Amino acid sequence: MASKEFPLEPVTVPLVDTPNRKIRTAIPAPESVDTLRRMRACEPRSMGGQPPVLWDRAEGVHVHDAWGNQWLDFSSGVLVANSGHGRREIVEAINEAAGRLYHAYCFPTALRLELEEAIAAFAPAPLNKVFLLTTGSEATEACLKLARTRGMALGGPEKSVFVTFTHAFHGRTMGAQLAGGIPGLKGWLGDCCPRFVNVPFPDGFRQTDVSFAVFEESLRAQGVDPARVCGVMTETFQGCNATLLPQAYAKALRDWCDTHGSLLIFDEVQAGFGRTGRAFGFEHLGVVPDLAACGKGISGGMPLSAVLGPEALMNLYGPGEMTSTHSANPVCAAAALANLRLIRSEGLMENAAALDPVLREGSARIAQASGGRIARHDSVGLVASLQWTEPGTTTPDPERAWEMINRSVQRGVMLFAPVGVGGGAVKICPPLVIDEAALREGLEVLETIAAELA
Ligand SMILES: Cc1ncc(COP(=O)(O)O)c(C=O)c1O
Repeated sequence: MASKEFPLEPVTVPLVDTPNRKIRTAIPAPESVDTLRRMRACEPRSMGGQPPVLWDRAEGVHVHDAWGNQWLDFSSGVLVANSGHGRREIVEAINEAAGRLYHAYCFPTALRLELEEAIAAFAPAPLNKVFLLTTGSEATEACLKLARTRGMALGGPEKSVFVTFTHAFHGRTMGAQLAGGIPGLKGWLGDCCPRFVNVPFPDGFRQTDVSFAVFEESLRAQGVDPARVCGVMTETFQGCNATLLPQAYAKALRDWCDTHGSLLIFDEVQAGFGRTGRAFGFEHLGVVPDLAACGKGISGGMPLSAVLGPEALMNLYGPGEMTSTHSANPVCAAAALANLRLIRSEGLMENAAALDPVLREGSARIAQASGGRIARHDSVGLVASLQWTEPGTTTPDPERAWEMINRSVQRGVMLFAPVGVGGGAVKICPPLVIDEAALREGLEVLETIAAELA
């Protein structure tokens, strides 16, 4: 979790000039400081954790400020710009939709159907129905609601226990945070809703026993009767780093859910639509969930999210009972449709899969350069994480994680603020349009920084 603000005093840094990176001013750019300061005065501190770069425009894999600086983007604006920034096809779709109809509530539009069919075409049966929302948090909350509704219909009020994993992030609204596994985010909830239960995520790092027995043992230890579980939700790779759920565990979890009448829900908000080299993260796990929550990369940048599920679950509510004012907003829907078409027509899932070994090996080299201080690195498709730790431990080292990001931004590689346990993780997640040369260039910058911080 980022809790530290980047200083606003400009630092003179060496100039950089490559086709991907141009640093021509002190960082932050002196002329941006007044705006950045006024933002801090005007906004809650919570909005202030990102590197002090005033984004002016972005194209492809590059982010620009207004003073001639250009960054190679390793953030995708927090795993959103899967098809790249500033795509003409998306801009034209937005303009066309906006000129015709920019709000329709839940009144039918042909555009909504086109998008829903395009989304469903990415997913396997029986995830054929699509419910459109605006944010990832809303999508995970909708899954939670469906799981509890179905559970209580089947097993009475007691069948409403919702199981999630330590370190999980499912969003910032109340249900999503009840379901999350980051204690630091849950203080404001007090002791309400005790039917949310966390079990250890089998990351093979802090939780070294990755066998499914730990899941069952953890429920037993917390006094949870499996018959009362209505749903189990997990990210397919944990967004606080990039650790995939192990395959054997995922299969055992699928069986367990089937045995005990629980829904299996995958939060695909980060993983979905190509990030891992496949359409969905669960394709790496060999199991299909009952519900999938999607967001971020689904739309390429406009606010849109989706829940995918089978008819029996998605029809639990009657007409008008499960909606949102901005479901399938025409401008967002047009952008998402254009984005999904680009993901397909430009082979972006395939590009992420092809570059998987480059990012994987690059992450390993960076970890090696850190002299063991990056004790854990994970990588799948075009997302990787580097976990900085105190030497020889799993204790996070947020200072080094932060400093890696600080130096990286000073050298023209855009990263977002540290995430993960104790703020120790640096994520690498470029737009899926990146080519191998640009990816290698950014990784080399990070390798140099890791060696400096070793
Ligand atoms: C895995 C995961 N789920 C849910 C969310 C919540 O999405 P949003 O910020 O769009 O509400 C996020 C956002 O970071 C996420 O990473």
